[in-house]
Amino acid sequence: MDLSANEKQVLKEVLKKQSKTGVSERSLKISGLGEREIASATSYLEKKGLFKIEPSLEVRYELGIEGRRYLAEGLPERKLLELLIELRKVAIPEVTKRMGEDGRVAITQLSQLGVKPESGVVVLPSEEKLEAIKGEITDRERLLSRILDNPEGLNDTQVSKFRKRGTILLEKKTTSRIIFPTQLAKEIDLTDTEDKIGTLTPEIITSGKWKNEPFRSYDLNIKSEKQNRGFLHPLTLLMEKIRRIFLDMGFTEMNGHYVEYAGWNMDALFIPQHHPAREMQDTFYLEASAAPALEHPEVFDIIGKTHENGIPGYTGWGYRWDKAEARKLLLRTHTTVSTIRYLYEHPQSPQAIFSVDKVFRHESIDWKHLAELHQIEGAVCSPDASIASLKWLMKEFYLSLGFKNVRFIPSYYPYTEPSVDAVAEIDGREVELGGSGLFRPEVTRPLGIKDPVIAWGLGMERLAMLYYNLQDIREIYQSDIDWLRSFRIRI
Ligand code: PHE
Repeated sequence: MDLSANEKQVLKEVLKKQSKTGVSERSLKISGLGEREIASATSYLEKKGLFKIEPSLEVRYELGIEGRRYLAEGLPERKLLELLIELRKVAIPEVTKRMGEDGRVAITQLSQLGVKPESGVVVLPSEEKLEAIKGEITDRERLLSRILDNPEGLNDTQVSKFRKRGTILLEKKTTSRIIFPTQLAKEIDLTDTEDKIGTLTPEIITSGKWKNEPFRSYDLNIKSEKQNRGFLHPLTLLMEKIRRIFLDMGFTEMNGHYVEYAGWNMDALFIPQHHPAREMQDTFYLEASAAPALEHPEVFDIIGKTHENGIPGYTGWGYRWDKAEARKLLLRTHTTVSTIRYLYEHPQSPQAIFSVDKVFRHESIDWKHLAELHQIEGAVCSPDASIASLKWLMKEFYLSLGFKNVRFIPSYYPYTEPSVDAVAEIDGREVELGGSGLFRPEVTRPLGIKDPVIAWGLGMERLAMLYYNLQDIREIYQSDIDWLRSFRIRI
């Protein structure tokens, strides 16, 4: 029988490990072969009648958000214990004042370890008890780092230490394959099958090896089976849904550029040139020895004057505006730049525009921040546009996605007045979904826009967290294959 080098290795490994209960595919570790190669060789061996395969449900644990935080900072019970060592006793309100939510967790945990608060005060335990508790906490912390390094093979007692504690552990159910080698597999003489060329490489061609060495033949008798088809990424699906909502409401979709002038990204939006958001920590600037001339230069003289002295009835920022600053190139930090450009380049009213597109920010990445993300941007220019219509539109939009508990809170942007932020709750935590407001006259008038403009810029990944019930924004881009597949059912 023709076997590829990979198939031979997998077969050998399975025969070596074989047991009555079968061999779990996940447990196969073969140097030089990745998960994908092992999976593919296993499937071929099944088709060749050498393996019988049974699916089995496996539960794996990974560190969740809280787990990772505790690993970095130490467990709350450790922090409280250290506080006790320093102060000998601490009243409960003092614990929560110093440690916040972690304080509550720490008190519960220490109570379970035998340090119960007495009349509202937590007291340092005896020396002997203290050592035992320290030992237990150290064990827990070691376990956390072990789970991070190697999440396989945890036993029930280990899991039970964290199971009831919020998001320390994430339970991941995956189906894995259990392999049973057939009689045929046991009879095959592995020493006798020679290595044949399975993949043609440049080396095989240039060395002329292909002339003399045998090639593996195709087995045309293998029956085809149902394939796992490709499908759209959950984020793409959500994006399409959002586009549909706005298109159905009669909005026109606009396009913009990733690389923009600071002038359009900021100055045209009345963001003063000394605004902290312009500094390197928030914006990715491009190194361009000679930035091209500003697009639509005619309007920038008026924009500059508006920054310096304002417009009738408005004072402006009162500083000297510098054209060179406006010519700098950057990766757009928001899609509001597309809105303002579009309104200038298409001076019609009434009109309603939107986009779902990418923006870039110099952010440190964590559970709710990404450096590259999508914004759901939109604006309505109309004699009737008002904050009331803005709130109605936002509510309508979120409702179309099934969200009812979205609230609006006052906010601030240099280009809108008033400004409102949409917020929602994820697992008891408040998450800001995005900003919106009514463009200030200092933005619209220099560009010749006469009617009021309401505009918004909402974070799409934040919305995806709510929509798909994710606890960590990074999950969207990790592209875990089990996670991706599960969406075919959930949607
Ligand atoms: N551009 C803002 C942001 O990036 C959001 C916003 C858009 C605010 C439009 C007001 C009006 O967060």
